[in-house]
Amino acid sequence: MVDPLKRGDRRTIAGAGPRMPGTRISCRATNPLSLADDLGKVFLDERQAKATTATRLFRNNELFDAITGICLPAFFQAPRGGRFAMWSTGCSSGEEVYSMAMIASNEFIRKKKQPLLEAFGTDINRNRIIEARAGVYNRPARNFLTRDHWRLLADYAEMDGRSVRMGDFLRSVCQFTIFDMRNRPKKHSFNFIVCNHVMQYYDAPGQRHIIENLKAVLRPGGHLYLEGVTEAGLSGGGLEKRPGAPNIYVVVPKP
Ligand SMILES: C[S@@+](CC[C@H](N)C(=O)[O-])C[C@H]1O[C@@H](n2cnc3c(N)ncnc32)[C@H](O)[C@@H]1O
Repeated sequence: MVDPLKRGDRRTIAGAGPRMPGTRISCRATNPLSLADDLGKVFLDERQAKATTATRLFRNNELFDAITGICLPAFFQAPRGGRFAMWSTGCSSGEEVYSMAMIASNEFIRKKKQPLLEAFGTDINRNRIIEARAGVYNRPARNFLTRDHWRLLADYAEMDGRSVRMGDFLRSVCQFTIFDMRNRPKKHSFNFIVCNHVMQYYDAPGQRHIIENLKAVLRPGGHLYLEGVTEAGLSGGGLEKRPGAPNIYVVVPKP
């Protein structure tokens, strides 16, 4: 078994937030975790979790471009209809899920369609899920967001000088639950499954196991966003990368 908190093994996670532009968050790194490791030390112990659960509103443009440029066009073209269902599998305190819902809803409206969507967020850290359900965050600095993202926040949330509270529409489409993605989900199926800033913590067998769990609930024609996955983690998983779209994978049809 690896020691996930080996002394002296430090690295910097660029892009982790919230923080001022240009700053970096340094955290004690983990050796890749195996499925048998004690995740509590890495993701639940709040001294570590400050870094390992870091997130923020509108963190990843690549993710949002995938929603508007790939996943929603495929959904609009498919005959199946229904609701566009998204799942963020290690969502921490929920900012990613609310951001995805704002981006997707805006795209529905831009296409003159009713925003029929649902956005699920799960995490193993109970405290983060409580924060996600509360949906109240420190207000980001104006110059920290793009103009479009700031406008979305103004449309979908209530802001005062210090905080931003997710509005009623977002609360009606976003749901949060404690869930460990080492387990196979049962109830729902999804058009878009996001595993963002999580795979990096797991070894190749762990990544392969998680990918199989996610594939099991991906709807036909759906997309996976797998940030930080390794070649070894992907190997044998029956996934194909979408050319020109960072981190987007589809299931290769069986012959
Ligand atoms: C760095 S945060 C990423 C948050 C968000 N996805 C983002 O990119 O901004 C990683 C999150 O993954 C969660 N996580 C790690 N392993 C998990 C597992 N097996 N099941 C569910 N959540 C997990 C952690 O608790 C943490 O909140």
